[in-house]
Amino acid sequence: MSKRICLFILLFFLINVIITSDPIFHVSADENENAEEFQPENIAPLRDLFADYFYIGAAVEPQHLLHEFGQMLEYHYNMIVAENVMKPEAIVRSKEDFENGNFNWTSADILFDYAEKHGMKMRYHTLIWHNQTPNWFFLDEDGNEMIDETDPEKQKANKELLLERMRKYITAVVERYKGRVEAWDVVNEVMADDEGNGDGLRESKWLQITGTDFIEEAFKLVRELDPDAKLVINDYNTHIPSKRDYLYNLIVDLQEKGTPIDGVGHQTHISISYPSIREIGESIEKFASLGLDNEITELDLSIYRNDSEVYHTFDEIPEFKYERQARKYEELFNEFKRLHEHISSVVFWGIADIHTWKHNFPVEGRKDAPFVFDENFKAKPAYYAIAGIEPNSEEDHAKNEEHNIAHDTDQEVNEESENIIDVYLWVVLTALIILTGAIIIFIVRRRKK
Ligand code: GLA
Repeated sequence: MSKRICLFILLFFLINVIITSDPIFHVSADENENAEEFQPENIAPLRDLFADYFYIGAAVEPQHLLHEFGQMLEYHYNMIVAENVMKPEAIVRSKEDFENGNFNWTSADILFDYAEKHGMKMRYHTLIWHNQTPNWFFLDEDGNEMIDETDPEKQKANKELLLERMRKYITAVVERYKGRVEAWDVVNEVMADDEGNGDGLRESKWLQITGTDFIEEAFKLVRELDPDAKLVINDYNTHIPSKRDYLYNLIVDLQEKGTPIDGVGHQTHISISYPSIREIGESIEKFASLGLDNEITELDLSIYRNDSEVYHTFDEIPEFKYERQARKYEELFNEFKRLHEHISSVVFWGIADIHTWKHNFPVEGRKDAPFVFDENFKAKPAYYAIAGIEPNSEEDHAKNEEHNIAHDTDQEVNEESENIIDVYLWVVLTALIILTGAIIIFIVRRRKK
């Protein structure tokens, strides 16, 4: 074969390789199927409905950035928080890794990258907590429980060791993500359900070993490392007057000692029957009176009134439950809107009913449905209630119309770029066919000679 023929064949393969490695040819079957199967509904995005009031967030795991979950997330929410992957036990793999400064950032990085790519704010949950933290944090150098130590000298050394571990952990996390976090849950659930240590504090290992120093030091250190982010103390049942007042007193006390606390995180795991919206509002007002921000950090609203009610499947849940839930959500969001100057974000502890920690909790074997989107990602009566519109009403159509105009413009841009891609593909394919033909003719002619 002559050199020319070899050159032509080589060129032909080269062009083929270049074209088939183009990302246009590489849309996975999965992505394609998904895009056809699921489209977010033609309803106004939550983040638009509350744009004048507060951020609307959702708790997610990395797998919720994909498929239907991902599409819902992108469409309705403008803030995310990690359901689990930013907790200490997820970041710290082993004592040895910790001591060598090796941390597991993979999943946390994925969420940060996603949030930034989609222009979403990030809440960091959570730096210091008594739960989901490796137990060796609370063991002394010999592997004994620090809380069992009775020798005052050793107790002092243990306290310093634990605080040193805390400093090292906080420094690693905050150094990595500083400047990218809207609000840090610096400490989670430090309050007890009753009088606790006498001042209402939970008698966790943190408290037993360090007193309240862990709280003070944690806030000061995060402020030092990431001066512009909001620093939050997060807890549940913050509406219960006794717990609320203990928390209030703790914050006043810490502030007097110069501890930089910017906000209170109200988890808000509530139900159709509990608590009253008035109590939730009063708590927000009480903390606002200290000049603090309030964040609704883990919102879900169970359809159950008590532990004896049980529906095993979504199909068993009667319609009236969803109506009841809608009325409560409506009241709740009206209160949030009324107090919006004191509330910077409202974050749901999930995206839609298909995934929630409330399935099987607190009652094994029962399904819960605590969000405004159902198990098929469809808007529930609760969505319409917080949006302040009746489904299929004139107002609903008007809102959709308004939203569709923006949506149509986006679609036109997409369609236009798809057309350009189509033309590009056709030109390339035609060129390929012509080139192949030319090569064949050339080879045949050469042979005849
Ligand atoms: C608490 C924690 C959250 C989460 C929920 C249950 O509220 O703050 O991180 O673990 O419990 O899912």
